[in-house]
Amino acid sequence: MTNTLPFKTLDDIGSIDGKRVVLRSELNAPQSHGVIVDATRLERALPTIHELIAKGGRVVILAHASTAQKDEQPSLKPVAEWLQNYLDVAFVDNKEIQEILKGLEENTSNVVLLQNTRQWDGEESNDPEFAQFLASLGDIYVNDAFPVAHRSHASIVGIPPLLPSYAGRQFENEYRALSKVLNPTHPFVFILGGAKFETKIPIAASFIERSDILFVGGALINALLKEKGYSVGKSFIPQDTIPGLTELAQSGKVLMPTDVIISEGNTAYKTSIDSIPSNGIISDIGPDTIRNLAEHIAHASFVVWNGPLGNVEKGFTDATSLIAEAMRRSPADTIIGGGDSLAFISNTDEIGFVSTAGGAMLEFLAKGTLPGIKALEQLI
Ligand code: 3PG
Repeated sequence: MTNTLPFKTLDDIGSIDGKRVVLRSELNAPQSHGVIVDATRLERALPTIHELIAKGGRVVILAHASTAQKDEQPSLKPVAEWLQNYLDVAFVDNKEIQEILKGLEENTSNVVLLQNTRQWDGEESNDPEFAQFLASLGDIYVNDAFPVAHRSHASIVGIPPLLPSYAGRQFENEYRALSKVLNPTHPFVFILGGAKFETKIPIAASFIERSDILFVGGALINALLKEKGYSVGKSFIPQDTIPGLTELAQSGKVLMPTDVIISEGNTAYKTSIDSIPSNGIISDIGPDTIRNLAEHIAHASFVVWNGPLGNVEKGFTDATSLIAEAMRRSPADTIIGGGDSLAFISNTDEIGFVSTAGGAMLEFLAKGTLPGIKALEQLI
């Protein structure tokens, strides 16, 4: 394949026999009580690790783990245990450089995974001394963590100026697939779900020009219905003005839901958007709306979807799995992304590309680049 990419990849790496590679991987897999509940990201990380080993490299893996609870710093130990099914990888739960290097020397397969990079002070602030420390662990750097490329953290943007730097295979795959969205084929259906109003509504609005059909689901739908003058009962909507909401509500490209699933106390039922009761909470889109959206998907040339369509954490997964099904059946080129929401889609076999990125995917689609891409670009 011709390399038309704005950064170097593993194809450009040459001989790395005996060299140490600092590899930034995306290993932020959802965990529950120390057990990995969705291994998609871990599976996608393996090819780059295997390729670097096959090329003779000794690999120091940097990765983070995060949860919605900002003050928690989860451990990568369950990830190390999962990886040990496929690699002889040593886990270093310590930031002492001697420990890390010792781990690397003692480890027969030449792979070391360091504990959650975010537990160290200089990571999130991109402290130059910390970046220097990370760079000192290797001779070259590979970034395979596209889902974190929107973060200006030391392990993403701090190391590339200090070492010869390359993108890993998963990073390259994400970049190639998501770049198609910047210049889509038509009819193009763009679907955005989830609950991050302030980030996602402006992104949906930025697709008014580019898409033919625009659908917002998840909690975002509450804001859209309210803006259009519907009563949304007790459904959550932020108090602050949401940039892009008015443009979205006025756009003829937006496919409006006609029915929704309401939860009220312990019951859940379907109703039309004109009759949402004052105690009701919108929890999913309804069957007529799903059918209508599925019809557009069936006739599209390109469909891109990020984020769940219902309150999946509370068990409202119908629309999310039926729309995934509609995308599998559609002859269109299809992309699904959105981090944790992938855990609610059981079969992605016939989807054109499944992005492991959540926030990074959206920021890339809106801006066409990310700090982690720019950091690699400067080196070409
Ligand atoms: C993700 O889960 O989208 C990536 O791992 C980035 O995680 P973050 O949102 O905690 O930076």
